[in-house]
Amino acid sequence: KEEQSPFEGIGGQETLSRLVDTFYIHVKNHPELSPIFPEDLTETARKQKQFLTQFLGGPPLYTEEHGHPRLRARHMPFPITPSRASAWLSCMKLAMDEVGLEGPLREHIFDRLTFTAHHMVNTPEE
Ligand code: HEM
Repeated sequence: KEEQSPFEGIGGQETLSRLVDTFYIHVKNHPELSPIFPEDLTETARKQKQFLTQFLGGPPLYTEEHGHPRLRARHMPFPITPSRASAWLSCMKLAMDEVGLEGPLREHIFDRLTFTAHHMVNTPEE
């Protein structure tokens, strides 16, 4: 049998969707993050679901609709400090806890997100 992707391993679209919705509840409530995000996170969450689906080896939903992710470039309009990167990761950690994502697969995904979050930093600490 083919090795399953992390996307399939976590439970596919259903789990990913709960993860992202839970994540943005924490973002919305985070004093350092909420000011740089739009008031209405519906579209942000929709794009993040598309992106993470492909990031985790599922179908390339983000690229089909928006083209190459160019994530660092797309984040340039927002001041992403090291402390905002940590805050983003802490919201993701809480969301992973709440959807019950555990074990080696969780660690693998979190490590990749940690790398990507640090790569988004574009502003020194205030
Ligand atoms: C968009 C912040 C890290 C994926 C955004 C937006 C903000 C933001 C403010 C714009 C929201 C909107 O206008 O709808 C941050 C901060 C991060 C971070 C503070 C801390 C390091 C990441 C990481 C990923 C990611 C690690 C991927 C794993 C995305 C995607 C979008 C996005 C896919 C939508 C891009 C689009 O408009 O097409 N982020 N982000 N972000 N972010 Fe992040």
